[in-house]
Amino acid sequence: MSEFDVAIPRRCTGSLKWDKRPDLQPFWVADMDFQSPPQVIEALQRRVEHGIFGYAVPHAGLDEAVLAYLTRRHETEVPLEHIVHLGGLVPALSLAGRAFAEPGDTLMTCTPVYPPFLGIHRDGKLDLIKIPHVLESGRWSFDWDAMEEAVTPKTRIFVLSNPQNPLGRVFSENELIQLAEFCDRHDLTLVSDEIHCDLIFDEQATPFFSALRLPGALAKRTITLLSPSKTYNIAGLGYAYAVIPDDARRRRFNHARGHTLTEINCLAYYAAEAAYNHGESWRLKLLAYLQGNRDLLTSFCRNELRGVTVPNLEATYLAWLDFRPAGIREPAHLFERNADLFLSDGRIFGEPGHARLNFGCARSLLQQALEAMRSVLSKHPA
Ligand SMILES: Cc1ncc(COP(=O)(O)O)c(C=O)c1O
Repeated sequence: MSEFDVAIPRRCTGSLKWDKRPDLQPFWVADMDFQSPPQVIEALQRRVEHGIFGYAVPHAGLDEAVLAYLTRRHETEVPLEHIVHLGGLVPALSLAGRAFAEPGDTLMTCTPVYPPFLGIHRDGKLDLIKIPHVLESGRWSFDWDAMEEAVTPKTRIFVLSNPQNPLGRVFSENELIQLAEFCDRHDLTLVSDEIHCDLIFDEQATPFFSALRLPGALAKRTITLLSPSKTYNIAGLGYAYAVIPDDARRRRFNHARGHTLTEINCLAYYAAEAAYNHGESWRLKLLAYLQGNRDLLTSFCRNELRGVTVPNLEATYLAWLDFRPAGIREPAHLFERNADLFLSDGRIFGEPGHARLNFGCARSLLQQALEAMRSVLSKHPA
């Protein structure tokens, strides 16, 4: 039995995932039901012991931990001044929209995608161009022709999710370079959201290539958004950072903040430092467990859930399920009504007929959910 098999009760803990709909079993929002690494909990306890929680700045240990992580993990030497600390990635996405485009300009992204990607353009009064990802030899990729056709002189920004939420794809070095060249050709800022990059199952098969590693001229037009929050399950503490190599872009980004973002949580810095410095052995155990869940889910869907397809999931604890072959247009609604399950509906990712299932939970809960889905599908008319 693994430590991750223990289903720790989360109801009535102020959990968005568990307390939003106390009548349902939650498999929706992207946080995991696992305790963070013990070293993270201990670092928080030490900071809490101090008992004073005034406004915080990133302490030297945090800066060192972030730079060491970037070197170790992404093989990049990033100067400290290229880093902008933030209270979350979503505010950073919104800020990028306001910093690098004017009202009336357009932002491009590919669907299906994490829902805020489809909403941040409104904060900057921008228009949105959505290009569907395409399935090529069983792997989701970019529709380069459609992107070339849709891009306009008013397009200023491309927003990328890599590894992709919800498709679970890890884009290759070639794809990243092709995308960066597309951005270069059309003078776009490339915003690369890499929050899930430490949740890749098999790095031999699907190595991660961060936008941080793009060659010089291409790297200059990038903003890379990172955080230990998904991997170490500390998203509720609110900490992320942007790496912006180009001075002018960094100035524009910081200027666009205005007075819109709060100070960063004084506990979050310490959790992030501990996660990066001491979380690696826990992360490897987590990945092994999630891989087991991924394998269970994939084989169950393919063998037991009639008319449901699931892509090969290379990363994340999120599975993108296609119910259209079963003739189901609103799967989340169907499972909510008939099985008390809370999945994320595909429409909010830009694709009806799908649902996203969060398998970052004890395997027994996942197994129960899959069996409940099988039972609903067996009664659903084809
Ligand atoms: C691709 C992606 N970006 C950003 C976020 C959220 O980031 P934050 O909580 O730091 O705003 C998520 C959460 O699920 C995500 O999947």
